[in-house]
Amino acid sequence: MEGELRAGIAGTGFIGSVHARSARLAGARVVAVAASSLQSAERAAAQLGADRALASAEELVTDPDIDVVHVCTPNHLHQPLAEAALAAGKHVVCEKPLALDAAGAAALVGLAGDSGLQAAVPFVYRYYPTAREARERIGAGDAGAVRLLHGTYLQDWLLRPEDDNWRVDAELGGASRAFADIGSHWCDLAQFISGHSITRVSARVVTAVPERVRASGRRAFAGSEPTHGEVRPVTTEDAAVVLFETDAGALGSVIVSQVSAGRKNRLWIEIDGSKEALAFDQENPEELWWGRRESATILRRDPESLSPAAARYATLPPGHPQGYADCFDAFIAEVYDTIRTGSAPEGLPVFADGLRAARITEAVMTSARDQAWVDVVGAPEPEEVAA
Ligand SMILES: NC(=O)c1ccc[n+]([C@@H]2O[C@H](COP(=O)([O-])OP(=O)(O)OC[C@H]3O[C@@H](n4cnc5c(N)ncnc54)[C@H](O)[C@@H]3O)[C@@H](O)[C@H]2O)c1
Repeated sequence: MEGELRAGIAGTGFIGSVHARSARLAGARVVAVAASSLQSAERAAAQLGADRALASAEELVTDPDIDVVHVCTPNHLHQPLAEAALAAGKHVVCEKPLALDAAGAAALVGLAGDSGLQAAVPFVYRYYPTAREARERIGAGDAGAVRLLHGTYLQDWLLRPEDDNWRVDAELGGASRAFADIGSHWCDLAQFISGHSITRVSARVVTAVPERVRASGRRAFAGSEPTHGEVRPVTTEDAAVVLFETDAGALGSVIVSQVSAGRKNRLWIEIDGSKEALAFDQENPEELWWGRRESATILRRDPESLSPAAARYATLPPGHPQGYADCFDAFIAEVYDTIRTGSAPEGLPVFADGLRAARITEAVMTSARDQAWVDVVGAPEPEEVAA
């Protein structure tokens, strides 16, 4: 496709604003935005430099002047908006979770495949150069056979009963909250770095704050102010503890929480191979911990010492920190290049990755309910693993 790409953004909260910035940096024009009302879309259009504010997301996804639709709304709208956008011939960048359940995500994968359009999901932690470096070392066999994957994804923005957001409400966010929202990112990154697929899970979940004061219009991560709204029971989980197995014979565990005081966005993954271990920490992403029996080393994000596959995402000199926004920029730039050239780079997260995450989420919630190990639908058969 030639000429300037025209992007439309549905949902202009925390992540919609990030999408708009990255879209512009990648050479697109943000031609329209839609939010929960025309008034909030007008405010957002002014802030984000969009040409037009539209009255609804439904109008945006079929607008003839838009080439690529970014779905950044609350979760319950992802599937219908992405479906309508694909049906209207638009490329789609749809936020996770792709749909409220795995069946919905599978339907979207089918539609996207039939359409020939590009359909991507922002699992953007893949774009940290240090995460890529860990992947390269494991892929090249330097770490040896992967035996254990472990870590956490901890946040604290829903710690208190006064903390609220549309995510808490199962009708808007889905039956799983913490795991679908951030556990999905952890699993995607753990699988991406290790090359393994999660095949079985045994999970427990907890709703640590059983009642919250309703303020569901509050923007994500906005903090809490005193509210005097209705107190409502919470049905979605605040935290999950998950054991898992992979197709290549590794074991793993992850703790996911939105109620861990003092932790803001602590996605931390450690992978133990038979020769060395690697640890990535999203809150300290300029460094990769590299453990061997003789010594442990901190590998810094320095293009001179990174492998080419990681160095291509190091856009600033060492010592000039890169972060989350840079990952988003790199992801959107790859999506737009793919739209322009028709050829996707290896590692671009697409709807099939969103489906994989949705299936793991469903297995986690089923396991927690039935108190049993549950297979992940569609995961590869476990390999014969040498002793
Ligand atoms: N990939 C990532 O790293 C990442 C990070 C944060 C959020 N997300 C995802 O992005 C989505 C949005 O999350 P957020 O944190 O930006 O939430 P948010 O609450 O900050 O923003 C939600 C936006 O949706 C708009 N909205 C609500 N109802 C709407 C409707 N009917 N039509 C159009 N717009 C509507 C609101 O006006 C608001 O602008 C979620 O699905 C979340 O999982 C992904």
